[in-house]
Amino acid sequence: MNNEAIPRIKSYLAKSGLSLVTDIQEEGKGTGIANTFFLKADNHNYLIDPANGKKRLQDIKKQLPFNEYDVLVTHSHLDHSANSGLVAAENSRVIFHPFVADRINNLKRNYTEITAEMVKVFGVDGFFGRTGMLGPSTIKLMQFIQKSSPPGFDFILNVISLIMCRLNNGGIYPPKKNAVFLNCDDIMDLQFGHTVFRGWPLSEQLFALDTPGHQNDHLAFYVPDRGIMFAGDLIGFLNPNDIIDGSIKETHAGMMKMLQLAEAGGIDILALSHALPVTGEENVIAYLRSAIAKQNEIFEIVSDIVSTCPDKNDFEEIIRKTYAHESDLMKKILKINYPRSASFIDVYVYIYLKEFVS
Ligand SMILES: [Fe+2]
Repeated sequence: MNNEAIPRIKSYLAKSGLSLVTDIQEEGKGTGIANTFFLKADNHNYLIDPANGKKRLQDIKKQLPFNEYDVLVTHSHLDHSANSGLVAAENSRVIFHPFVADRINNLKRNYTEITAEMVKVFGVDGFFGRTGMLGPSTIKLMQFIQKSSPPGFDFILNVISLIMCRLNNGGIYPPKKNAVFLNCDDIMDLQFGHTVFRGWPLSEQLFALDTPGHQNDHLAFYVPDRGIMFAGDLIGFLNPNDIIDGSIKETHAGMMKMLQLAEAGGIDILALSHALPVTGEENVIAYLRSAIAKQNEIFEIVSDIVSTCPDKNDFEEIIRKTYAHESDLMKKILKINYPRSASFIDVYVYIYLKEFVS
């Protein structure tokens, strides 16, 4: 863990025509705002993930190494996409997964509604209490309003969601023009060694890979001749945020494919969104193995807990036992999630029950 690692990583990336804008100050630390990458490939320039917030926008403008470029967005989550309407040059294309087409004009609403939906699923106490966002007396007041005036409660939730969304992401600027949505009908098998992804060729040496799991409109971007994989949030297992519109099975499948490709020597730079890039084939393989091991451990823990509960759909009881679990990994996950945001282990358990129980 040292600051000297950052210049070393940056010079490793530079040899492959890659640079990044990051808020990470120290190796081993994460960040809430996704990294932005600048890539030169096939005589063309790309900006990957414009992220969110005024500061990032200024940093991008200061560090942008080219004038003409396309913008690639890994997925619709606001920490990756909120600035997408502001970073494009006159002739830039801003490229998204096909599923973003229906969401792009409602980005704010989509991610505002998540809070309201989660409060409905987890209950007022579950959402605001467990995450430490509100104190006991405010929670009682909210529960009272929920009972006595459901429309008033919905209104308050919406206001809270808007404020949270604004605080977390700043302004949200979808592209007014220039947006290009990949076409579902054009998706094809892309074979790299023995590993086959579904996806779209963007040029001879740049591929958009359909990588659902964390989010169903998620793309990874791959440059095979230099072994660069922009993995977005596919690998960031429960840190700092995880599955939203996604699936545990697909997350696992996507990570296993990344590992297979890496073990065959296909990934030299694993460009992650919320951690520093991992450089060198062996380090990439070790990183992926460790992320998959964590994923498997949490899966086993939740499976064991569910198997000991007589009512397999008793969310409250299952989540209570999950929070009380003694493993180091669970303690770490709770510390990351709690109390800074809606707790993503709650979402994981919720999705687990949907995918594996009901
Ligand atoms: Fe995300």
